[in-house]
Amino acid sequence: MKILLLGSGGRESALAWKIVKSPRVSELFIAPGNGGTGAYGENVDLSPLDFEGIKSFVEDNGIDMIVVGNEDPLVAGIYDYFANDAVLVVGPSKAGAQLEGSKDFAKDFMFRHNIPTARYKSFTKNTEEAGLKFLDEMNGPYVMKADGLAAGKGVIITENLEEAKKTFREMLDGMFGKSSATVVIEEFLRGIECSVFVLSDGNGNYVVLPVAKDYKRVGEGDTGLNTGGMGAVSPVPFADKIFMKKVEEKIIIPTVEGLKKENIVYRGFIFLGLINVNGEPYVIEYNVRMGDPETEVVMLRIENDLVELMEMAAKGNLKNAKLKESPKSAATVIAVSGGYPGSYEKGKRIELPEVNGESIIFHAGTKKDREGLLTSGGRVLAISSVGDKLEEALDKSYKVLSGIKFDGMTYRSDIGKDVMKK
Ligand code: AMP
Ligand code: GLY
Repeated sequence: MKILLLGSGGRESALAWKIVKSPRVSELFIAPGNGGTGAYGENVDLSPLDFEGIKSFVEDNGIDMIVVGNEDPLVAGIYDYFANDAVLVVGPSKAGAQLEGSKDFAKDFMFRHNIPTARYKSFTKNTEEAGLKFLDEMNGPYVMKADGLAAGKGVIITENLEEAKKTFREMLDGMFGKSSATVVIEEFLRGIECSVFVLSDGNGNYVVLPVAKDYKRVGEGDTGLNTGGMGAVSPVPFADKIFMKKVEEKIIIPTVEGLKKENIVYRGFIFLGLINVNGEPYVIEYNVRMGDPETEVVMLRIENDLVELMEMAAKGNLKNAKLKESPKSAATVIAVSGGYPGSYEKGKRIELPEVNGESIIFHAGTKKDREGLLTSGGRVLAISSVGDKLEEALDKSYKVLSGIKFDGMTYRSDIGKDVMKK
């Protein structure tokens, strides 16, 4: 089958790497891809949001399946756009994508289906006074979230009540444009986070992919600004059988059943951002795609043919699917541009070492020119390895990292340390 993969990050590199391992695949195209995805297929200069352009490409090239990497096209309704065409789309309908596209929708969905999450209320400019009063009645830290997509920056947490009120007003006044016209204020949950990925077929069948943990803050010891993710590990020692059984019973089943009950078509990946509060899982957020950099470790631990699983999901037919999870551990460390997640320079020449079979350098923000490879984003490379133990996987990734050079390169040296201690 011929596949078109949409996106350009480390996640798409890892998906592309895994997709072309499948004997079912005759051709893979990546739109727009990056400086590394050409190793797995053909890069196509098309924006994932250019639905008309994608349609022409699909028709001209006989594409059988579109795999959507990032959330924007899903929230914009790419599934619905192709609903009457022969091409399969792996991803939720526009209604399903609201689980990520609107925090207010997601919270309400969870309350309708009794899915554990932080208590909350939503406010708009018209209910600003009530929102300020709600903050007065709460204890800190105060968690405020822009309702709409905000490139991962729409959550602000502060300990100080006056600062919370000021931020709340600024959000309603357009801090994140239209995305923060509605603001969700919610209870602060204390615990340790992990990411659980589910592939859903829309008929109540699903497979749970290997659990992962990402490291969101830019600085060592989880300090400093939030980023897209500075590294990831899988499996996650605290997400043991008992915890995962609770996740399945209290979160996954009510989610897929809830979608079905509400006639929301969802044939794609569900990303559960979870927090473990004294052994009990709560949903921090839903995303409607795979995580980045979690995908880089998750793909290394799936032994199934991913294309077969995605095809079954897109056809509503996952009933007899069973995940084969590798007993090995995987670790990814991200090499980022100096200054990220603030402003940073692009176009730095990259030198890569030779790597052996147990490590892979997934490209994220890279592009090619005649002489070689250049940086083109904040997160540049996702250095990923497997090992019998997490420690071994991490050692291998850091060893490869020590041979990578570009001007201003930084990374976190403590990926995975917190979970290994426990
Ligand atoms: P989100 O974009 O919703 O994932 O939020 C970004 C980050 O903010 C999460 O990964 C958490 O670390 C933190 N966060 C969000 N909501 C809460 C909450 N209710 N309690 C504690 N931390 C939260
Ligand atoms: N790593 C978190 C995300 O992809 O949203």
